[in-house]
Amino acid sequence: MPSLARQSLRLNLMLWLGGPVALILVASLWLSYSRASRLATLIQTRNLTASARMIAEQIRYREGLIEANVPPAALEIFATDAHDEAAYAVFDPKGNLIAGFPGLDPAPIPPDAPPGPVTYDTMFRTEAMHAVTMRQPVITPDGTVQVTVSVGETGYARGALVRAFWMRGFAEQAALVLAAAISIWVGISRELRPLTRLGRAVRDRPPNSVEPFEVDTVQAELRPLVSALNDHMARLGAYLDRQRRFLDGAAHQMRTPLAILKTQIGVARRSDSPERVSAVLEKVDASLTAMTRTTNQLLTLGRVEHERALPALRRVDLRAVLRDVVEETAPRALDHGLDLVLDAEVPVFVRGNRVLLREIVANLVENAIRHAGRGAVATLSADVADGMGRILVADTGPGLAAPDRARLFQRFARGKGTRAEGTGLGLTIVAEVAEMFGGFVTLPDPDAPGFRIAVLLPLDPEA
Ligand SMILES: Nc1ncnc2c1ncn2[C@@H]1O[C@H](COP(=O)(O)OP(=O)(O)OP(=O)(O)O)[C@@H](O)[C@H]1O
Ligand SMILES: [Mg+2]
Repeated sequence: MPSLARQSLRLNLMLWLGGPVALILVASLWLSYSRASRLATLIQTRNLTASARMIAEQIRYREGLIEANVPPAALEIFATDAHDEAAYAVFDPKGNLIAGFPGLDPAPIPPDAPPGPVTYDTMFRTEAMHAVTMRQPVITPDGTVQVTVSVGETGYARGALVRAFWMRGFAEQAALVLAAAISIWVGISRELRPLTRLGRAVRDRPPNSVEPFEVDTVQAELRPLVSALNDHMARLGAYLDRQRRFLDGAAHQMRTPLAILKTQIGVARRSDSPERVSAVLEKVDASLTAMTRTTNQLLTLGRVEHERALPALRRVDLRAVLRDVVEETAPRALDHGLDLVLDAEVPVFVRGNRVLLREIVANLVENAIRHAGRGAVATLSADVADGMGRILVADTGPGLAAPDRARLFQRFARGKGTRAEGTGLGLTIVAEVAEMFGGFVTLPDPDAPGFRIAVLLPLDPEA
């Protein structure tokens, strides 16, 4: 079963485009989240640092005590809609809490650390807090001492800020992806339209139509397909044409002898003389023999037509083929006063089909029997000429005039002066079979007496 993606070009393209886009979207969402988070932390740290500075600036030494007067503004910074909790704590140099909330531990600052705020995450009671710790020098009569100030805040407002930043990026990107998906879908649908139209055109055409399809109405990528389809149409057209002509010729060929047969039988029925009836029956018998021959020739031609599409070529020895045909036809040749001579010394291997090659040689011998006349000699030879396997059949009969020779290989074509029975298909079969095996037929030495015909076939490359 084909996979789902194989069934739909549209789906396939969507997957190819959508997959990478989805990956990029995920990466980009992650990036924008971390950016938003960094930005929110930065803002919160700034607020914490500002608040710690405000508290630190109000720390004084008075009457033997270090005092921290925390200004309200230092904590008002944290008043947000998110109901965050904020806490601060001030520690004397010994680490005792002198102002603020117990429970907010300062970040441990090494004595040699550079001055300035240090950020850290901590717990205040049950709340997680982001906090800042800084040192503030205070002048006392005994010298300068270091006081520690810590300010922390819960992260609700910070989280809300991250979400707000991030949601906005997400919405923008989602809109972008949606727009891309819609335009891809619409684009693909539009681009597939010529293909759909072509499909409809193929489906709706009448069964005998072999008109080519318009190539210019489809995209460049589809043109090879349409051209190939048109090539196929052209070949199909030629094939249908041949078949039609063949059928026309065959019907015509059968109609005449059938009409004659009917007349002959009519004559026999009306006649009361047994001698007359017997004479007519003899004619009927001859007519039937001729019709049988015609039917066989037509069937052979039909088979050649059929096999032409996909010929199964094998190695065949021409000498063996000639020998078989001579053996088969010798008695008939003798009956008709024709002397058959076989002149083939070496085997000649060609590529073809043994049955059809026998068929063409039999046709050539049959021609010699019918058209060369009594007392003639027909010589069959097989050899290699100009790198091809050659069958040559030469007889000492009357031969054929030039005008007749020109159209010899056309279907149903027969010599003008030919009196012998025949259909005019024999040499057509010979030519078509030769062509099917990659060879051809010639009439060599036209000026030589008698009738000479050669069939040339490609040699078997392995022989
Ligand atoms: N050996 C030959 N000598 C003289 N004429 C020939 C010879 N062979 C063929 N021809 C001429 O060529 C014509 C075409 O031959 P082809 O074999 O195609 O048809 P056919 O012999 O008339 O009928 P069939 O289909 O029964 O073979 C013949 O009618 C004949 O006029
Ligand atoms: Mg013939």
